[in-house]
Amino acid sequence: YSKIGVIGAMKEEIELFHNHMDQVNESVKAGVVFYEGQFHGRPIVLCKSGVGKVNAAVTTQILIDTYGVDSIVFTGVAGAVDPDLNVGDIVVSTECLQHDMDVTALGFPRGTIPYEETSLFAADDHLRKLAVEVSGELFGGRVKEGRVLSGDQFIASRETVAQLYTELGGACTEMEGAAVAQVCTMNGVPFVVIRSMSDKADGSAHVNFAEFTVQASENSYRIVDQLLKRL
Ligand code: ADE
Repeated sequence: YSKIGVIGAMKEEIELFHNHMDQVNESVKAGVVFYEGQFHGRPIVLCKSGVGKVNAAVTTQILIDTYGVDSIVFTGVAGAVDPDLNVGDIVVSTECLQHDMDVTALGFPRGTIPYEETSLFAADDHLRKLAVEVSGELFGGRVKEGRVLSGDQFIASRETVAQLYTELGGACTEMEGAAVAQVCTMNGVPFVVIRSMSDKADGSAHVNFAEFTVQASENSYRIVDQLLKRL
C-alpha cells in the first residue's frame, strides 16, 4: 500500500480529499482528471471516474498502468439494499458483483459473467478489516460488511431492491464498485469499496439521493481519511 488510488464517481465524493491534498499535480487521460499528491504525507492519486461501470473500469486501468498505484480505495454513496441499513449507514465491501450482468437466456445465473473463473470479486482482507475498524470507531453500529452490487442503473423501486437482496444477497447497490473490483482483480491489485447510504433504492430514492448525497459523501470521506492515515 505505498501508492494508493482513490476513486469517487462524482464531485461530491472526491471534493473533500482534493481540499486536503498537498503538492497536487494535475493531469488528464481519457478525459479523466488525475490529482497526484500527498495526503497525510502519503502519496495518493485521486480522481473522479464519472458515473457507471465503463467510466470506472477505464479509470481503474489508467490508475494502475499510467499512475502505478498498488492499491485502490473507492469512496462514495450507494442505495441501501439490506433492509437493516438506513440513510447515512456504512457498507464496507467484502466482495462486489455486477447485478446487471444477465446471460440467463443461456442458462447462466443472474450476475454471472460467462466463462470466467468468478463473478464475485473479493476485496483485500487487510484494507476491508481496517476500514471496518475505523468505521466502527466513527459510526458505531451503523456499519455493515457485505456484498456491493453494481450496475448501470439507478435503482429506485421497492420490487427491484427486494430482488437484489433476496436473489443476489446485496448489502447496497451503486454503479461503479464491481467494475473497479473486476479490473483490480484482473491486475492483481488490492481494493476496497466504502459506501455511505444516500437512499434506500426504493420509490423515494431520487429524493433522498438529492438530499443526502453530500452528507453521505462526507461520511465515506471521514472513513477513508482515517484508513489512509493508519495503513
Ligand atoms: N447510488 C446512490 N444511490 C443509488 C441507487 N439507488 N442506485 C444506484 N446507484 C446509487
